[in-house]
Amino acid sequence: MCGIVGYVGHQSAGPILLEGLQRLEYRGYDSSGIAVIDRDGALAVMKREGKLRDLQAAIQQMPSGATGIGHTRWATHGQPSDRNAHPHASSSGDVIVVQNGIVENYRELRAELQDQLDAEGRSWHSDTDTEVIPELISKELIAGRSFEDALAYAVGRLRGANAIAAAHRGDPDRIYAARKGSAGGIVIGYGDGEMFVASDLPALLPHTTTVYHLEDGDIAVIDDRSVRIRQENRTSFQPTPVQVDLDPVAIARGPYRHFMLKEIHEQPRALSDTIRGRARLEPPSALADDLELPIETLRSIQRVLVIGMGTSLHAAMIGRWWIEQVAGIPADFDNASEFRFRAPLLGPSTLVVAVTQSGETIDTLGAMNHVRQHWGAPQVAVTNVEGSEATRQADASIILRCGPEVGVASTKTFVGSLAALYLLACRIGHAQGRLSPHVLTDRLEQLLTAPSLVERGIQRAERCAEIAQRFGTASNFLVLGRGIEYPLAMEAALKCKEISYVHAEGYAAGEMKHGPIALLDQEFPVIALAPRGPLFDKMTSAIQQVSARRAPVIAIGDEGDKDLSELVDHFIGVPPAPPLLTPFSLTPVIQLLAYQIALTRGLDIDQPRNLAKTVTVE
Ligand code: M6R
Repeated sequence: MCGIVGYVGHQSAGPILLEGLQRLEYRGYDSSGIAVIDRDGALAVMKREGKLRDLQAAIQQMPSGATGIGHTRWATHGQPSDRNAHPHASSSGDVIVVQNGIVENYRELRAELQDQLDAEGRSWHSDTDTEVIPELISKELIAGRSFEDALAYAVGRLRGANAIAAAHRGDPDRIYAARKGSAGGIVIGYGDGEMFVASDLPALLPHTTTVYHLEDGDIAVIDDRSVRIRQENRTSFQPTPVQVDLDPVAIARGPYRHFMLKEIHEQPRALSDTIRGRARLEPPSALADDLELPIETLRSIQRVLVIGMGTSLHAAMIGRWWIEQVAGIPADFDNASEFRFRAPLLGPSTLVVAVTQSGETIDTLGAMNHVRQHWGAPQVAVTNVEGSEATRQADASIILRCGPEVGVASTKTFVGSLAALYLLACRIGHAQGRLSPHVLTDRLEQLLTAPSLVERGIQRAERCAEIAQRFGTASNFLVLGRGIEYPLAMEAALKCKEISYVHAEGYAAGEMKHGPIALLDQEFPVIALAPRGPLFDKMTSAIQQVSARRAPVIAIGDEGDKDLSELVDHFIGVPPAPPLLTPFSLTPVIQLLAYQIALTRGLDIDQPRNLAKTVTVE
C-alpha cells in the first residue's frame, strides 16, 4: 500500500529519495516524508500531508545528507496528516523508521513501552501503529544491543505483515531493511558506490537494474558498497543480485494525459506479448512451455477454483466461464478475502488459480496460504510481476507480459489476465483430451484475434467522450450484462466507482427485475452490454423493461446492429466478436467510458481518492 525508498551513497539523498517516491506514488499518496542523515549523524526529517508535490517544495529547505529513507503513505492507523506521515522517529530522536503493512499488536506494544516514555517525560507523537517500531529499537539500543540486533528484536515482536526501512544517527553510513510476511516486497538496488532500497522496481530503474528481492524474514544491512542479509536463524550471507529486464521508458507517461489512458492504449501490445509463443497452431498447443505443472496434475484436475479481488476477481469470473466452456470441467470463482474465512471445502483434485496483477494483494495471498496449509491443492498464480509473493506461493505461474501498470485502475493487466486464463482453459482441456486438435486450433485462432478486437474497441474513444459529456454529471449508473458479459458489467461499475466516484452497480440483466428496477427513472442511466450472442434476445427484453421506466439506455453492441441502435437512446458499436471473446471487444469501451466520465468531472484519474495500487493490508 505504502511506498518505501532508501539510499546510502555519495550523493545528496533527498532528491534521489523524492524521485523514487514519485515513481512509487501509485502505492499511496495521502502524505509523504523523507529523513536524511549526514556523515556527522545530524538527522533531518520532513513530512507533509497531501501529494508529493507538497513535500517537494518543503525539502528545498532540508539540509543534505548522503543517507536516508522515505515513504509515501496510504493511511491505515491515524488520518493523513503531517504528524502521522512517515518516517517516524524514536522519542530519543536517534532512530527513524518507515513501514508498509500493519503492526497488528501495536496497542499491546504501546502499553508495554508507555512506562519508558513516561519515565522520560515524552509522549507518542503520532496515531500510527508504526511508531512503536523505532521505540522498540531505541529501547534495545539503550539496553546495549547493536542496531542490527535491536531491529531484529523489534521485527520479531511485531504481529502482522511488515516491510520496513530504518536508519540510525549513530550509524550514518548504513541503512537497514526488513521484510516480514507478505506486506509487499522490498528490493535492493546495486549502484556504483551507492545502494538503493524500494518497495517496487520502478523506483530503482533509473539507477540500476541489478537487484535483490528480500525474502520473508530477511533483514538487510546495507552500506554504499555491499549488502548483508541476516535471516531469522541469525545466519548471514552476501546475496547474489539478479538483473531485471525492465525498460525505464515503460514507466513514463509519454504523450498521454494519464497513465490510465496510456495503459488502455497499451492493451493490444500487452495482449500480444502475453499470448506470444503460448498459443501455437501447428500442432495446436497452449502454454506448452510456460506452465510448470506436471501433466499428471493437469490430467487429474476435476474442479477449478479461480480467486482474486477487485478487477482480478472479475477476470476470475470470466476465467471460470472459459474453464467450463473451453476445458469442459466444473469451475467456480470466489472472492479471495471471503474464501479463506468460511472454511471452504475444496475436495480432491481441485486446482486453485489465483489472479493478482501485483502478486502482492494480501487477501489473495491469504487465500493461497490457506489452500496450501489446509488442502495442499495445486495452485497457479496469474500475475504481472515475476518473483512476486504469489509466484512464490504457487506451484506454477503464468506471468503476464503487460509491462508495469502505474495507474491505480487496472486496465492492461485485466486483459492480460483474461488471455492467461483463456490459455489455461485451453491447456487443461487439451491435457484432459476434452479438446480435439481441431477445436483447440479453432479456440486458439480466436484468441489470436483478441489484440485486434481490443485495438478496434479503443478506436471508440471519441464516442465514449460524447457519451461522457452527456452523462458526466449523473449520480448513478446501472450496468447490465448477461453470461460472460455479467462480470464485465461489474468491472464497468467498479471502474466508474473508483475513478469517477459515481455510484454504479453491475448487475446480471436477469436480476434487474428482482429489485434494482425500482431505482430507475429518467435520471438513472443504464449501460447495457449487448453484443450479439446466445443471450442477446434476453438482453433486449431487459433493455425494453428499462426503457419502459424512462431510464436512458446506453447500449454497447456490435457495430452496425441497427435493431439495437434503434431500440436504445445511445449506442456505441464495437467489433463483433465470437461469443466467448466479447470481453476483449467490450473492455476498452467500458474503461474509456469511466475514464471520460472522470475527465469531465475533473478528477485525479491516476490517483483516485482513498485508493492505492497494491493492497497489502487487510
Ligand atoms: O494486484 P491485484 O490484481 O491482486 O489487485 C486486486 C485489486 O486490488 C485491484 O484489481 C483493484 O480492484 C484495482 N484498483 C481495480 O482497478
